[in-house]
Amino acid sequence: MEKFRQQKWKEDMRIRFDFNNMMEEFVGTEEGIQKKDILAMEDRIHRAAAGMKEKRKKGGMAWRDLPYNQAEVVADIKKTAAEIQRSFENFVVLGIGGSALGPIAVHQALNHIYYNELPKDLRGYPRFYVVDNIDPERMAALFDIIEPKETMFNVITKSGATSETMAQFLIVRNMLREAVGDKYNNHIIATTDKEKGNLVKIAREEGFKTFYIPAGVGGRFSELSPVGLLPAAVTGIDIDELLAGAAFMDEACSVDNVFENPAYMAATLQYIAINKGKNISVMMPYSDGLKYMADWYAQLWAESLGKRYDVDGNQVFTGQTPVKALGVTDQHSQVQLYTEGPFDKVITFLRVDRYRAEMNIPSGYQDMPAVSFLGGHSLNELIRAEQWATEYALLKANRLNRTIVLPEINPFTIGQLLYFLELETAFCGELLNINAFDQPGVEEGKKATFALLGREGYEEKRAELEKGLNKKKEYIL
Ligand code: PA5
Repeated sequence: MEKFRQQKWKEDMRIRFDFNNMMEEFVGTEEGIQKKDILAMEDRIHRAAAGMKEKRKKGGMAWRDLPYNQAEVVADIKKTAAEIQRSFENFVVLGIGGSALGPIAVHQALNHIYYNELPKDLRGYPRFYVVDNIDPERMAALFDIIEPKETMFNVITKSGATSETMAQFLIVRNMLREAVGDKYNNHIIATTDKEKGNLVKIAREEGFKTFYIPAGVGGRFSELSPVGLLPAAVTGIDIDELLAGAAFMDEACSVDNVFENPAYMAATLQYIAINKGKNISVMMPYSDGLKYMADWYAQLWAESLGKRYDVDGNQVFTGQTPVKALGVTDQHSQVQLYTEGPFDKVITFLRVDRYRAEMNIPSGYQDMPAVSFLGGHSLNELIRAEQWATEYALLKANRLNRTIVLPEINPFTIGQLLYFLELETAFCGELLNINAFDQPGVEEGKKATFALLGREGYEEKRAELEKGLNKKKEYIL
């Protein structure tokens, strides 16, 4: 039996949410949260929990079913991944936002840190790239390092209409036609909505292999759908284990009582912190593998909670600005601000108990105590000590902080982490009484781009923009 089906192993791999340093006993009366603050929210928590259930029942949270309802699609993904591994040297994702950040985060967490640089026999699978921008230099550079005829491109767009992704697609399609002629369609996989958007139409007409993002699964909540599962499977990640981890966290968060539900507790504490003026949420993993988890989380938290209106139409201008940091690197860059700057942050550490490598520090320079004290220890001890020391320094400075502890990094714990953060975000949205699943603020920029590129129907917007873009020279030095 696979280890992720064994109860004992699963318990050993349970990720923990440690919120001691959010509480007044530790962080002081002025800043700290009291148990009674949480208890006083009983009604709001109750309403939010009921809202979560209601939405789940009505299909508004289809992302919560992904750990359970994809047996068929997972089989297809594994088969497709095996074919890609046999036939292609490179696998390139074209996508942006929720269609790119999850694949990047999971790849960084679960594959070799220098995956693409590994010799082929050690890597075992195609090289992996995610092009999540339209910088022409980067796009051109991609074609300096890959041969289109040796490459499978996975175009991912839920809406099937995102200009950036469709522009990349047009470029790649052209390149492929030049390189392989009529067979170009064997080099493109579309991951998109089954009904909406142009990509699905194109895919059907031109015969691309297609995976569907289920209705009710928004971009930033889609990592456990084919959006993330195909890239993960192609690069050799065990996607059954990833989904099992998410299911395990779903179960761990199945009760309404926040004192027994880690994701609900995490959201409740953030809600209280937001109301205390903590406008910034820093995520600081102490692991290079988890570095891009902070990027993925930044989109999830920012786009879901940054809202002008609540669901009743009141203007609320709510949200909490996510900041990405990396331990220990940013101890030498940002921690000064976190300990002595404004009291406007909650810092979330991601701690790993067992790293996948041990690196001992040899002894040396006995006559130099500031160097020699390191000898005989390991980098594992050092990074652990530094994380603990930073936590302690923040605590001493009365700064709210919390730690998510991963026993180790593997698909099971990463599945748990993704699901935990998604659930925390959704529950915080319920507490804030906002719609965590839309992003109306992004629309204005999209329309302006259409107008500037002369898309039909956006002539008025273009005229408006041209007026607005009439900048004053005196303000440019
Ligand atoms: O979370 C979201 O829905 C957005 O951030 C999208 O992921 C992003 O805009 C890309 O959209 P699409 O997948 O439709 O191309």
